[in-house]
Amino acid sequence: MKRDLQKIDWDNLGFNPIPTRSMWKGECSAGDEWVNGQLIPYGEISLSPASCVLNYGQGIFEGLKAYHTQKDRIVLFRPNKNSARMQKSTERMCIPVMNDQYFMDAVTSTVKDNSDFIPPFGKGSLYIRPICFGVSKAIAVQAATEYVFMVFTSPVGPYFKVGSKPLHLYLSDKYHRAAPKGIGNAKAIGNYSASLYPGSMAKSKGFNDMIYVHAKNEKIIEEMGAANLFVLSDGELLTPKLGGSILDGVTRDSVITIARDILNLTVKETDIEIDRLLSADEVFCCGTAVTVTGVGKISTDEKEYIIGNGNFGEKTLLIKKKLLQIQKEEIDDPFGWIHPLV
Ligand code: PLP
Ligand code: COI
Repeated sequence: MKRDLQKIDWDNLGFNPIPTRSMWKGECSAGDEWVNGQLIPYGEISLSPASCVLNYGQGIFEGLKAYHTQKDRIVLFRPNKNSARMQKSTERMCIPVMNDQYFMDAVTSTVKDNSDFIPPFGKGSLYIRPICFGVSKAIAVQAATEYVFMVFTSPVGPYFKVGSKPLHLYLSDKYHRAAPKGIGNAKAIGNYSASLYPGSMAKSKGFNDMIYVHAKNEKIIEEMGAANLFVLSDGELLTPKLGGSILDGVTRDSVITIARDILNLTVKETDIEIDRLLSADEVFCCGTAVTVTGVGKISTDEKEYIIGNGNFGEKTLLIKKKLLQIQKEEIDDPFGWIHPLV
């Protein structure tokens, strides 16, 4: 692997795409297997204006990270979970399903060829973005006959531009992100376009992001546009149960395991009423991009609520610390989550 690092301002990484050397591209026809694919130079791709992804949103993606760890190794975090979720997302979106080996070959080849773009230990990570979409032309609404799978990467730092401050989130039932029995639990690109308008409205009002409520029962919370939610209430750690309209986050699952097995907390996947969220002792969101980020305030159209003492909660910080320590190999990984590349 290439060890001479690129000249990048590692101390000021945000969450913006920085072009790297190469990206993976594979192609597959409906009914065939994903077998071919290779690294090509990073750059633009061409698409027909009639391609299915542009007209009907037939596309899904994944997100995972490569870390340069304290042991001076390059590792991935639970990539098998991303592969499994991608299989579910592709199936739901009528895209040919790829096997774990094909996914892992594409991801590891791309990371290895761009390893000099991985931030040094303690300075961020390499975000890995697998994307898969229908490219054949159609005007009638129907699944494509031809598909492309790509993997590109970018060095990244923090997702939220809040420095060391907790988040101030906006809770509203004016817009829903996803519906029960819809595609909310698939990492389908359409879920993210649904969140653009509410998300930018929240940001224009000065909030960091938006909390969505359940589309059928607006009294309970769901998740954010790019992260799952946790609430510490009466000594228990609660997170919305997977009911089909929220994403089955890899970080969510890791937080549940760390809280139960390392911190001996009672964790419940359950319905969380808005009142319980707003009176919680701690609230945090989690995801690959956002890691674990504490929430200090939540506002509705009527009122601003301070969560706990308005700062990062004690359990939030402990859970975040343990997760990052495992990801950076600062402590042993008791769960077999680390996938070393060197
Ligand atoms: N929820 C949504 C809508 C997301 O986009 C993400 C990010 O992937 C998550 C939750 C967190 O998932 P993960 O921890 O797998 O990154
Ligand atoms: C991730 O955390 O990897 C995500 O996919 C969220 C993203 C939309 C930034």
